[in-house]
Amino acid sequence: MPVQRNAGSVGGQFGAVIVNILFCGDVMGRPGRDAVKRYIPELRRDFALDLVVVNAENAAGGNGLTERLCGEFYDCGVDVLTTGNHVWDQRELINYIARDPRVLRPANFPSGTPGAGWRLHPFDDGRTALVINLMGRLFMDALDDPFARLDAILADHPLGCGPTAILVDMHAEASSEKMAMGHFADGRVSAVFGSHSHIPTADAQIFPGGTAYQTDAGMCGDYDSVIGLQKAPAVRRFVTKMPGERPQVAEGEGTLCGILLETDDASGRACRVEPMRIGGRLTPHRPRPWPTANSAGAGSA
Ligand SMILES: [Fe+2]
Ligand SMILES: [Fe+2]
Repeated sequence: MPVQRNAGSVGGQFGAVIVNILFCGDVMGRPGRDAVKRYIPELRRDFALDLVVVNAENAAGGNGLTERLCGEFYDCGVDVLTTGNHVWDQRELINYIARDPRVLRPANFPSGTPGAGWRLHPFDDGRTALVINLMGRLFMDALDDPFARLDAILADHPLGCGPTAILVDMHAEASSEKMAMGHFADGRVSAVFGSHSHIPTADAQIFPGGTAYQTDAGMCGDYDSVIGLQKAPAVRRFVTKMPGERPQVAEGEGTLCGILLETDDASGRACRVEPMRIGGRLTPHRPRPWPTANSAGAGSA
């Protein structure tokens, strides 16, 4: 349940009620799953997280997601699972997704695609957070227009009148398309966070309209790799231009890579956004759990 606390510049007479959200980028195989299982329970407690969203499109050996792995994510404190172009790599998900509304596939897949592209996640107090999964079209499969799809979803669920917070996972190859989506949605959603590139970007910020943005959350997985795959075969393929062996997930210690978001529950706008990197090889960055009056609204990266 969102908790009331003094949040400095965003506070009203009695201080704002802050909604705490964590979004983690693409979970790559076992090292990514292990990082999520190891760190999410303590982050959930330390940051009083109201909502944890994880992109799980590569959770099953780098290719897709299974029912069993969905259960493992929920057991460790994940609320909603987003996906992307790898969503159907494990065929069992085609049937399972219709039975589990907590797993999303991109909302701009053609009409008639199994599953849902957005989820109203209920808080204990009856309010909701809206999670929307979109996919880009530059250098990716041709899909329906993600911008028009977002407009249609928001027409039914305007920020501040319906959902307490709205989080968009923009799963896309091109940084330009992700950033365009961020500005397109500015002021109408709490955050647009990118996924798919498996590399965290250093551009966390709050746009003028109050929408938090980061081009890519980064991968949860082993960074001694080529975007989560064993490096030697991946490098060899670039050098020789020969197909070689089937790519395998790199099995070293994984880094949990995500973004911490804090929103004002009255307006739904972001008041803090900061990257989260724990474990493995990447330089760690762990935000302080409670911002001071001076840091609230700073949107540091
Ligand atoms: Fe991915
Ligand atoms: Fe992807």
